[in-house]
Amino acid sequence: MGLGFGGEVARFYQRYRRGYPPAVFDALVEAFGLTPEDTVVDLGCGTGQLTLPIAARVRAVVGVDPEPDMLELARQAARDQLFGNVGWLLGADTDVPALAALLGDGRVGAVTIGQALHWMDHDTLFPRLRPLLRPGGGVAVVTNGTPLWLQDTAWSRALRGCLEQWRGAELSQPCGTDAASQRRYADSLVAAGYDVEQRTVDYTDEIDLDDLVGGVYSALSRDALPAPEQRTEFATRIRDALHPETRFPESVRVTVLAGRRR
Ligand SMILES: C[S@@+](CC[C@H](N)C(=O)[O-])C[C@H]1O[C@@H](n2cnc3c(N)ncnc32)[C@H](O)[C@@H]1O
Repeated sequence: MGLGFGGEVARFYQRYRRGYPPAVFDALVEAFGLTPEDTVVDLGCGTGQLTLPIAARVRAVVGVDPEPDMLELARQAARDQLFGNVGWLLGADTDVPALAALLGDGRVGAVTIGQALHWMDHDTLFPRLRPLLRPGGGVAVVTNGTPLWLQDTAWSRALRGCLEQWRGAELSQPCGTDAASQRRYADSLVAAGYDVEQRTVDYTDEIDLDDLVGGVYSALSRDALPAPEQRTEFATRIRDALHPETRFPESVRVTVLAGRRR
């Protein structure tokens, strides 16, 4: 079954999806007292946006993702950057019991879930992760900014209108970045036996039209991606909808919902 992150989407994701600023990794290290002795699991690792920087701070990381194309690009990036301490596992949140059997109880410093929890059954997942964690370890639910078309700026509203017209459907899914989702995740963590705190990292960025169109492609499912011969028209429509702006400032909020094992 394809999840939609395969093929070209994986390549757009790797090229255009922004990584996380260093302060996010400082927050993870601080929240769980991570040391160079620790093992981390990055669930829904995609092309490795969280996996590789965290690997620089700990003993070893296991990146887990159900999409082979995402995993292959992550593996290649790790090779290119000479990371020798990352293992890659084709799997999903439903494979956590097998992962727990492999790693044993109380061995993991943190399980990170970057911009991926909305694909998972969090109420089942959080209790299943608990036995894997060493004392003081925990689960980090990380979001990486509001989707490009849902931000509170004129260009973002224009982009949303343009995309909704192209797709003939409303685009309102905040992918776990909204306050209601964060509350739901926090409540679920507490119910599963974690102490929860939220940390935020705010920064501003500015992207150009190429980044914007690439960012949109990286967020579409494989089926929804415009065919190669439609892409010039697609980009032109976006450019015209956003005219005369050619640079697009963003306020990016990264949230780290840290659930420490009680
Ligand atoms: C938006 S990407 C996030 C990638 C990366 N963690 C980041 O922070 O940019 C979501 C990833 O979750 C993966 N995914 C989807 N369903 C999943 C599941 N049930 N269990 C684990 N990963 C899943 C997708 O294949 C995709 O690579």
